[in-house]
Parts: sequence; C-alpha cells; structure tokens
Amino acid sequence: MPQLPQKLQQKLQDRIDNKTLRSLPLSNNLIDFSSNDYLGFASNETIYANTFQLGLKKNSVQNGASGSRLLSGNHAMYNELEKWLTQFHNTESALVFNSGYDANIGFFSAVPQRNDIVFYDEFIHASIRDGIKMSNAKSYKFKHNDLEDLKSKIKQAVGESQLDSVRASSNISNAEIYIVTEAIFSMDGDSPDLKKLSEYCDAEGFHLIIDEAHAIGVFGKNGVGLVQQLAIEKKAFARIVTFGKALGCHGAAILGSESLKNYLINFARSIIYTTALTPHTVTTIFSSYNYLELSNGQNEIGVLQKNIALFKSKLKSLGLEKNFVSSVSAIQCCIVSGNDKVKTISQKLAEKGFDVKAILSPTVPEGKERLRFCLHSYNSPDEVGLVLQLLKKYL
Ligand SMILES: Cc1ncc(COP(=O)(O)O)c(C=O)c1O
Repeated sequence: MPQLPQKLQQKLQDRIDNKTLRSLPLSNNLIDFSSNDYLGFASNETIYANTFQLGLKKNSVQNGASGSRLLSGNHAMYNELEKWLTQFHNTESALVFNSGYDANIGFFSAVPQRNDIVFYDEFIHASIRDGIKMSNAKSYKFKHNDLEDLKSKIKQAVGESQLDSVRASSNISNAEIYIVTEAIFSMDGDSPDLKKLSEYCDAEGFHLIIDEAHAIGVFGKNGVGLVQQLAIEKKAFARIVTFGKALGCHGAAILGSESLKNYLINFARSIIYTTALTPHTVTTIFSSYNYLELSNGQNEIGVLQKNIALFKSKLKSLGLEKNFVSSVSAIQCCIVSGNDKVKTISQKLAEKGFDVKAILSPTVPEGKERLRFCLHSYNSPDEVGLVLQLLKKYL
C-alpha cells in the first residue's frame, strides 16, 4: 500500500509526541455524559415508529436521494419540512442542508463578499471559521461574549466615517458587516447577551448570524431555541439550526428571509454540489420535530431542565462551582489545566462507569483544557450526584 508522505507522517508523530493524537473511539456502555443527544431522541422508539409510518405514507421506495437538491434529489418531504420549519421557528424561509458543517461553510463562503467584513467570537465553531476562510471577505475575531470588545474591533477595522455610510446604507459598494456568534457555545455551554447584541446590530445596520446548534430542543417553548425564547428572531439576519444534537437525527437548516434562501440555493456550493439527504433522513427530522411539538417532547425538555438545575445545585453544595464555566445550558465544563491531567480524570471516571469527555488543547486554548459534561433527560439524579462526587475526589 503506498505510504503517507514523510512530512505528513511527521505531523502525526508531532501529535503523538505532544499527546494530542486523535483517534476514533469505540462505542461503549458507559453512562452518557458526553453525547449531544440531550433529549434521548436518537434512540426514541416513538420517533422511530413514526418515521416508518410517515415514510410509508409519503414516500415511494427511495433508498437514496438520487442527486443534488438542484437536480433529482429535492423530494416532496423537503418542501414540507421547510414549510413546517418556517412556522415552528417563526421565520420567512428555511433551507435544509446535509449537516450543520455544510450549512455553515455554505453560508460563510457565499454570503460575505470581497469588501465585506465578518466579526466572529473567538470561540466560534470550526465550521464557521472554515466557511469564513473560504470567503473573500476580511474577518476579525472579538473577545468571547464581549460586546464592548466587538464595538472597539469594529471601530478599529472600519473607522467612524465608513461606519456612517454603512449605517446610512446609501451606496451599493458599501462594505456590509456580518457578526456571528453562537446561542450556546459548544465548548463552554455559555451564551452572549443576545438581546443586547441583536439590538446593537439592528441599530447599526449590521447583519447578525446566530448558530443555535446547542439551543434547539433545550430552550424556549417546545424547544424552539434561545433566539425565539428572547423574541429576537426578527433581528437575526440568519439562524443556523442543526438536527444532529437535541433532535437526535442529522442535517441542519438556515433560517432567514426568502431572498437569503434564494441566494443560497444559487451560490452556496455545499448545497449545490452534493447529494441531498435521503428522504428517510428528512422524514426522521420531521418526526423528531413533530414529537417535540405535538407529543411528549415537553416531558423530556422538563426533565432535562430539572437535571441541569440539579447539576448546578450539586456543584454549589460540593464547592465545585469555581471550577466550572458559568452555564445554564446542557453543556457544563470543568476547567482542568493540562492535557495529561484532564485525560487522567476522564479515564478515572470511565473506570467508574461514566463517559465524560476530556477536551484538549489545541481544540480549546492551552491552560483551558476541560471535562465537558453533557447533560440529558435520561441521566438519573443518582448518576448526576455520583459523577460529581467522583469528580471532586479526583480533582
Ligand atoms: C455550534 C455548532 N455549529 C455547527 C456544528 C456542526 O453541526 P453538524 O454536527 O450538524 O455538522 C456543531 C457541531 O458540533 C456545533 O457545535
């Protein structure tokens, strides 16, 4: 078999040497404090059965989509799902992509243009960074969740006189300004002040994009997300919702205006040049949303919220609060500096039956390595109590 070029072997060796080599883990039977399946929908039998029923009713036998959505792959279920999403998420249009990764690279590589500027939170997800890299726009990062730093970065980069013309929006050659953040940050579980940020963007004429990957199914009535909980959806230029986390299936959608949807269909290469999700997958997304809204989804959300509250009260009683990033979401992170140390604690927890992932640098900044606890509706109060007692012992 032809071997990897020497310089690539060396890159792997470097990772081995500094103990950051990644590998694919085997599935395990540990108690789940690591998956994104916040509501247990990935193995929910009612959703599974409903998908089957709905699929039989709506689709002829169709194992694969058979082409890009722009060619033969745009089955009727796609249009039904997108129509449903516009109502559920109170927006003008929705466009389904194959994944959150595809949605973000599609959006950011296509929307910001050469003279435009993108400002992004320093902890933004890799898919957004990759999309920005693929665009011709300039980009600057601002300090995590720091509106004042964002304002000063904009002033530095744009200058007051140009800002005035952006505000006036009088000239077609004006630079457009895009600001991107996450409703719930994937590696911290915290949030920016979305209300203030959206008001600022609205007042200044900037385009705000919010990735809601970890907020859907967790916040808002029926899990509509944090943006709708705060009633700021009309102020967001675009929202990214993903289906691989609380919805327990796969895919994503960009929510925004009808003209944005039309633009993305024409210019977002990650939807144009790829085979569409199978009708079966689209049906599963539909069933998950149906369950969330019409059936018992509220039960799971209620139990998840109770578990989050329980976890936080245990942190307080065990004196662990100071070790954790402040968060009201299903993601709770305990900072443990050093790759070796955080890996050792994760390993010890695994030996006691708990799956809590160690997040290493360079995925997070050096010194900010962490144990990332993902909470679920199916974690029992005993499991929450025990894992935190063990954590205290190992810290
Ligand atoms: C904030 C955020 N955006 C986007 C994605 C990508 O979504 P997907 O897993 O559907 O590709 C993730 C997944 O980790 C994420 O955490």
